[in-house]
Amino acid sequence: MVARRVAEEVFAPRELLILSGPNLDQLGVRDITVYGRTTLDEHVERVRAAAAPFGLSVRHLQSNFEGDLIEAVHDARGRSAAIVINAGALTHTSWALTDALAIFPGVKVEVHLSNPAAREPFRHVSTLAGVVDGSIAGFGGLSYDLALAAVVELLAD
Ligand code: DQA
Repeated sequence: MVARRVAEEVFAPRELLILSGPNLDQLGVRDITVYGRTTLDEHVERVRAAAAPFGLSVRHLQSNFEGDLIEAVHDARGRSAAIVINAGALTHTSWALTDALAIFPGVKVEVHLSNPAAREPFRHVSTLAGVVDGSIAGFGGLSYDLALAAVVELLAD
């Protein structure tokens, strides 16, 4: 029993799952004054390269469908050590995604390119904020790099 627990810790998954919600596949053409010209793939590949030296492999899923994201969070249990999630507008509405994240036992970081608190009132609420380890918003692409730094730090604890 103890040996199994030790083995589980030694061989604990070192996968970082990046989840991207609705419309983030449109980065690069979507509202570039707010989100910039960098595409989602470019953000993910930058994080992938930065994560590798820490022994973290990056898996990425983007979906415009809430259920896909919920199932990806379920599937991450026992597979991913951490989730970095930009849920797009689902951030402000999805109690179902929030409930799914609450079940995930690993590190969880919410990320946003823009600063929703400085934008329209409907963006001021994050249903996810209460179930993640922390939220990073407003730094453009740097938000993802800061999220990775947080993941590395929290996994080292
Ligand atoms: C976003 C902010 C959300 O309010 C918006 O709906 C998005 C992108 C961001 O990264 O700044 O789709 O999550």
